Amino acid sequence: MTQLSTVNVLGICGSLRRGSFNRLALENAITLCPADMAITLAAIDDIPLYNEDVRQQGFPEAVTRLRAEIARADALLIATPEYNYSMSGVLKNVIDWASRPPDQPFEGKPVAIMGASAGLFGTARAQYHLRQSLVYLNGFVVNRPEVFIGQAATKFDAEGNLTDATARDLIGKLLVALRDWARKLSR
Ligand code: FNR
Repeated sequence: MTQLSTVNVLGICGSLRRGSFNRLALENAITLCPADMAITLAAIDDIPLYNEDVRQQGFPEAVTRLRAEIARADALLIATPEYNYSMSGVLKNVIDWASRPPDQPFEGKPVAIMGASAGLFGTARAQYHLRQSLVYLNGFVVNRPEVFIGQAATKFDAEGNLTDATARDLIGKLLVALRDWARKLSR
């Protein structure tokens, strides 16, 4: 396989909230990514709650679309909120739908994760649960750097710009690591 000249990344936000700090983190990532990377954000608002009876009759259209987007992407960038020390139900639901056979699209996929939360630990606990799910799905998650945006309300300005220098630096480094990881895995 040839090296990827531009690494196309699908961003997935685990919050549906208007003004979500995790969505803002993803939008800021678009401006912080290297020139040879392109990030587009997945729309997940119309993914229904998982129901095996529904899947037996075929994937809903929104799920088919998302699975195709994941399969097509060279890499994924997932921003997870922390709900009760774990990832949000919204994100888990998306992963559960997308992961069903055939052709589970996380298999061998380069993935970077980050997260923003109200608490001090910036989604650390949620991210480790997300990593655990991705182990089962054989997604290849970048180990370092870890991007934990704690006390998120203090890290963005009124226009949604990420103003925290450490977080900006770490996201930039994470994206470079994701690009290099995706290229290494595509060889
Ligand atoms: C939270 N929040 C939260 N924060 C945290 O640091 N650790 C936690 O375990 C939780 N648990 C939790 C549960 C539920 C049900 C909600 C609604 C919220 C606060 C959370 O970090 C905050 O609402 C973030 O702003 C959510 O991310 P978005 O929506 O801004 O991306």
